Amino acid sequence: MIKIAVFDVKPYDIPGLERYGPENGIEFKFFETKLNIDTAGLAAGSDGVCVFVNDDISEPVIDALRQCGVKLIALRCAGFNNVDLRAASGKICVVRVPGYSPHAVAEHALAMLLTLLRKTHKAYLRTRDFNFSLTGLVGANLFGKTVGVIGTGRIGRVFIDICRGLGMRVIAYDVYPAKDADFEYVALDRLFAESDVISLHCPLTPETTHMINEKSLDKMKDGVILINTSRGALIDAEALLEQIKKKKVGGACLDVYEEESDIFFEDLSGHIMDDDVLARLISMPNVLVTSHQAFLTDDALESIAKTTAENIAAFFRGKPQNEVK
Ligand code: NAI
Repeated sequence: MIKIAVFDVKPYDIPGLERYGPENGIEFKFFETKLNIDTAGLAAGSDGVCVFVNDDISEPVIDALRQCGVKLIALRCAGFNNVDLRAASGKICVVRVPGYSPHAVAEHALAMLLTLLRKTHKAYLRTRDFNFSLTGLVGANLFGKTVGVIGTGRIGRVFIDICRGLGMRVIAYDVYPAKDADFEYVALDRLFAESDVISLHCPLTPETTHMINEKSLDKMKDGVILINTSRGALIDAEALLEQIKKKKVGGACLDVYEEESDIFFEDLSGHIMDDDVLARLISMPNVLVTSHQAFLTDDALESIAKTTAENIAAFFRGKPQNEVK
């Protein structure tokens, strides 16, 4: 049996991995703790590790895993910005789940947008308290509005289709425009200037880090709504907070946050929130925060578990698939 140590495991991860593990010759050992330099030793005796978005896969951790005999890092996610690929190169193989369910993420982006815009989260709380007043619940139509989509890969394109279904005008920006695009690509500055809603669907790279910053926010329409279901550090959260306070930004739907790694996925109710920027953002009536939840559907979890198990089995058969280099 191939032995795999699974880090940062949550109850919803286990059934799928236990279903697809045995049929692929894999025995999973589950650890709730995240992978970092202090916990890497838990992988001793394992052939590989299985990790998620906030595990630390920096050079020292990669070296520590190698010393434990680990040959494979299997990401059970699409993004790989938390892996030092240069350090891993030639030492340890890294595989991922590239496209488990673009619909899960794109549909969550829509859910957040409609919730924020139509204030259904506030209405729900009111009617549960038998408060049937509509004061303060005025929303806005999406029909006829312009949405700017940054990153037109798997998720961005599903989101574009959804927005067109709503009767929105779509403009998009990508460093590698799709050849078969049936929507309009524009320069980034034009996208900033013309969009009522901007949704981020590009990966986090050195070029995209803080692409939403003081300068780019200044180029946007007054009242713009931002959606980020991609990676937190695409947005300079302090700059966003400033522009929300100045009422330049009309709303923000944030499924990811730059400093999320010690916060998201954990129950911190009853604790004092150390992160003042996140606390202030959450206090805003026009900010909706979800805890990196966009991937979390039963369809996506099934697909993640299946592909992860198949990636692991393929590597140990000598035919790596979905490798990240
Ligand atoms: P993808 O690789 O299919 O598409 C990414 C697109 O971004 C590509 O078309 C690429 O050319 C473009 N791009 C790269 N650099 C760019 C730049 N500087 N400016 C504009 N566009 C750029 O990726 P996919 O599957 O659509 O995922 C997008 C991102 O969504 C992932 O990188 C990941 O960070 C995030 N994600 C978030 C999840 C969540 O639960 N919140 C779940 C899954 C993915």
